[in-house]
Amino acid sequence: MTSWFAPGRINLIGEHTDYNDGFVLPMALPMGCATTLSPATDGWSVVSVQEPGEVRVRRSGLSGRDDTPDWATYVLGALWLLHDDGVEVPPLRIEVDSDVPSGAGLSSSAALVCSVVCALDERLGLDLGPAGLLALSRRVENDAVGAPTGGMDQLASLRGEEGHALFCDMRDLTSQSVPFDPGASGLALLVADTRAPHRHADGEYAARRRGCEQAARQLDVPALRDVGADDLDAALASLDDDELRRYVRHVVTEDARVLEAVDLLRDGRLADLGPVLSASHASMRDDFRITVPEVDTAVEALLGAGALGARMTGGGFGGCVIALVAEGEVDAAGDAVRGAFSDAGFGEPELFTASAAPGAHAVEG
Ligand code: GLA
Repeated sequence: MTSWFAPGRINLIGEHTDYNDGFVLPMALPMGCATTLSPATDGWSVVSVQEPGEVRVRRSGLSGRDDTPDWATYVLGALWLLHDDGVEVPPLRIEVDSDVPSGAGLSSSAALVCSVVCALDERLGLDLGPAGLLALSRRVENDAVGAPTGGMDQLASLRGEEGHALFCDMRDLTSQSVPFDPGASGLALLVADTRAPHRHADGEYAARRRGCEQAARQLDVPALRDVGADDLDAALASLDDDELRRYVRHVVTEDARVLEAVDLLRDGRLADLGPVLSASHASMRDDFRITVPEVDTAVEALLGAGALGARMTGGGFGGCVIALVAEGEVDAAGDAVRGAFSDAGFGEPELFTASAAPGAHAVEG
């Protein structure tokens, strides 16, 4: 039986730039979600290895969405949208199995959505192609689930490549693979999952997005991507709201940092990426204001232990921190984070190293 696997992701740099038509540099993770479809006789059912029970949808009820548990909305969303598009969806049993921790900022939702969309694409012979797979995966999250996210996570999950990060232009949705193999330079990408509970993450994310769109309107540009680094001072001077000024400064400087990071990776200057990562963190902390004490503590502990650079990854308000660390110093850096968390009275963080893995693909069972 064929399953479709789609990975979670880490964003190396480029945070909250995707919905501003800007640049991002994520990579796919080895962990992900596998979806297996099998024929059914009456209606649709969804089971998750990680969730109790079975969610059933009657044959006539495909577009009804009221009493579906949240996690199953990410699965059934694709069926609802295809049904609304006039696609005949035969009865199916859908089984999903994911090892991406949820709430860690590693895009467990994109892994789930993309694996379901790829499985349906093959089973129903939709032939969506790369642009269509991305468009449907994004619609599931934006329209069916109702999360106003910017598309980076689905792009990384669908198109990631082993040993590479994915340089994405979120305006035209093109992506280019850029070598990312820290081991070849004696380095490791260390991930600290702070396990900090997300505080108001959905509302704050939507507020940042609204603020960026408002600033773009005031600056009379289609999106903040259109404010060049050289025009930043003039743009800031023409805004009268300090909060919007901070948002603009973060997005414009973050886009520039992504371009710098891509140049460094292409030149094989991985160690020089460190300060760029740390500058991104400072911008998220001071200008965009999306970090929390656990995340800032982890970054400080990692830098104090000799990491070349460290930053929060993902939407913010909790989740994971990444750091570039010399291979021989991974254990000491991990101990430094654990020690700092214990001193601060935070819960136990989870530490692991990550490498760039392939994007969505079929797996023969
Ligand atoms: C979340 C969203 C993405 C992106 C990041 C921030 O992961 O799903 O679209 O906006 O936050 O960079």
